[in-house]
This record gives sequence, structure tokens and C-alpha cells, in this order.
Amino acid sequence: MRTALIDPAADRKPGWSRRRFVKALGATVVVAGTGALGYRIHDTAALSSGHGEAYDPWRHWRETPGLLGAVAAAVLAASPHNTQPWLFGIRADAVDVYVDPTRDTGTVDPFHRERHVGLGCAIENLVLACRARGLLPDVTLLPDGPSGARIAEVAVHDGPPVADPRYDAIGDRHTNRGPFEDRLIGLDTVTGLVDRTGTGDVEVRWIVDPEPRAALGGLLVDAAAALCADEQQSRDNFAWFRNDDEIQRHRDGLTLGGQGFGPLELAAAKVLPASSRTEGDQFWLDRTRTVHTATAAAYGVITTRTPDDRATQLTAGRLLERVHLTATSRGIALHHMNQITERMDREGATGFGPRFAALLPVGETPLLTFRVGYPVREAAPSPRRSAAQVLR
Ligand SMILES: Cc1cc2nc3c(=O)[nH]c(=O)nc-3n(C[C@H](O)[C@H](O)[C@H](O)COP(=O)(O)O)c2cc1C
Repeated sequence: MRTALIDPAADRKPGWSRRRFVKALGATVVVAGTGALGYRIHDTAALSSGHGEAYDPWRHWRETPGLLGAVAAAVLAASPHNTQPWLFGIRADAVDVYVDPTRDTGTVDPFHRERHVGLGCAIENLVLACRARGLLPDVTLLPDGPSGARIAEVAVHDGPPVADPRYDAIGDRHTNRGPFEDRLIGLDTVTGLVDRTGTGDVEVRWIVDPEPRAALGGLLVDAAAALCADEQQSRDNFAWFRNDDEIQRHRDGLTLGGQGFGPLELAAAKVLPASSRTEGDQFWLDRTRTVHTATAAAYGVITTRTPDDRATQLTAGRLLERVHLTATSRGIALHHMNQITERMDREGATGFGPRFAALLPVGETPLLTFRVGYPVREAAPSPRRSAAQVLR
């Protein structure tokens, strides 16, 4: 049934771009209730998800001992557009975390909030991996001050190894951009994903009820449309898409294989000619409407009253990663969706801020948004540079 709409020769017809073909296929699969096409699909042919050296860090992180092993776990963390904006310095009894300022998403993250959230995600993995190795960590954020070189110092001393399901989930945590099952997720279940130890005023607000969920879904669609209509943001976004050759060379960025396709859709996308940036934008917009928001069982929003504070952003990243790891350990999928806050940073006070604020407690500013649900299929790993490649 899935192939019924597809002319086997379609990929060779002039005018049948990858996008049009996959869109037709996607429509068929949506009817079957399993459709999934990813966010911000562009003209990448990157399909070798999970193969080659770019994916080795997912296979070898546990076996590496000591602080190098902790860094091997840190590099598996989430980061905006998979920029991996980190560098690490290993000393005898500490790891220093640095930002790599060359890893930038331009107008998508003009104040580098997302970049610092990504660094916070890496710090969380680092901490869990130190504990698992019997190296008890003591974290100091911004030890040299807000504009100092080090983002964090994780000093360690010997202790008993600490077992933690979140540590065990590090190698299975992936952003899931595919469809989620049509199955409700209760407030108790989602609040149970949150461990706010040491997070100060950084909170997770859950949007579960149908009406606010629909309102946030509408905002996400509108923000995706605004981002696509903004040529510079669209270009800055596109810069981090990697095609097949680039994946093994760069070992970073977004790939077609990480977009939540089913096997048939992935195969279709592989054989077709590349579509353009603007076609890809339109495609992402379609999927935001018909898959991402349509199948979101609930949304989580990480909020704060101090969104411009670097330590707050790092703490929010630690919390985000912690939620994602706990969700992974419980079979719940998570998909980051930050186009609203990306538009808020771009547009200033007159933009999406007031509409988002209406869904949140008074005085709290959204930093990060994600959807959760029970996945139709597992998400694929994304490429990574190895620990050795990110040592300073
Ligand atoms: C701060 C931040 C913002 C992100 N924003 C988005 C987003 O808007 N849409 C999306 O699909 N993924 C988003 N992601 C997920 C990253 O693209 C993802 O972490 C990265 O590609 C690595 O893939 P992985 O999480 O599967 O390991 C974001 C991640 C972080 C940490």
C-alpha cells in the first residue's frame, strides 16, 4: 500500500525532486499512521546513519577509563544543530570545559544562549560519567568569571562508583524527530522526568492539556514559517546540514539520517536529486504542522527569570540533558523545538514573546522548548567528533 502512490520510475523523471517524491511517500505513510519526515530537511544525501568513524564515539564511550572516558561521554550530549561547541582540558584531577567560538549558528542564536545550553548538556554527561567511574565531581560554573576562558571546572576526587540509569542512557539518547504514538502522556509521567537538584530558578513547565498544547503547536508552526521567511536565518540554519561526504569529514551538523524517517522514506530520499534550501524549508514547515506538532503528546518548556545569565543557560542545559536521559531510560522520546525562542531573539519584544508568555507563569521567560511522547520508531545517532578531537 505504501508504494501504491509511487511510480517506480519517478526518481528518474525530470522535475521529481527528492522533496516531491518523499512528500508523496510521506503522504502515503501518514495515511498509514506512521509518517515521519524531519525538521529542516535540506539538500543533504546523508543517509549513512550509524556507519563510519563519525559514529564511533557512540560505540566506545563506556570502555574508555578515567577523565578521558568522561569526556567521551560528554561529547555525546545534545547541542544546537549538533555544533558541538566545546573543548575540554584534562588535568590530573579536573576537566576544564571551554567554548569553541568558531562553532556558531549566527542569526539562529544571536546571543549564544543555545550554545551555552549545549555546553551545559555536555557538563551533565561529564558529571554522570565521572561519578560512574568513581571520580566524584565538584562543578564550578564560570570559574574565571562570566567572560573568563573556562565555562566550567569539574574537579574530581576518588570515591565509590555511582550507578545511575541516566548514565546508562547516554549512548541511547537521541533527538527523535519522527512521529509519536497517539497515546496520552500524563502530567505525573512528565513531571517524574525532572530532577531539579541545583537548578535554582530554572524550571520545567509542562503543557499537557489539549487547549494550551494546540496553542503552543500553532506558535511553533508560525515560528517555523517566520524562520523560513527570514533569508538570513534560513541560510544560517542550512549551513549546518551535512551531506554524505561531509559527515565523515566534519563529524558534526544535521543529517538526513537523523530526521526521523522510516526505512522506506530514507531509501527514497537517498536515490533522489537534492532539493533546494527553500524547498527544504517548506518541507520542514509541512512536517512541523503535520508530524511534529500533530503527534506531540506534551510539551516541556524550560523557563527562568534570568535568561541572559550565562550560568543560568548552563544550568538549563544540565537540566535539559537530565530530562532527556531520564526520558530515554523510560522509553519516552524527546524532540527539541526551539524555533519560537529563536524568533524571539531575532524579533525582539514585539515578536513571539507575548504569545508564548501567555502560556507560562507570569514573569518566567522560556529558554528551551521540546515535545515528548512515545515514539513510533527509535531515533538514529548523529555524528560526533571523538574525545581526542576536542581536547585543548
Ligand atoms: C540548545 C539546543 C537547541 C536545539 N534546537 C533544536 C531544534 O530547534 N530542532 C531540532 O530538531 N533539534 C534541536 N536541537 C537538537 C540538536 O539538533 C541535537 O542535539 C543535535 O543534532 C545532536 O543530535 P542528538 O541530540 O540526537 O545527539 C537542539 C539542541 C540543543 C542543545
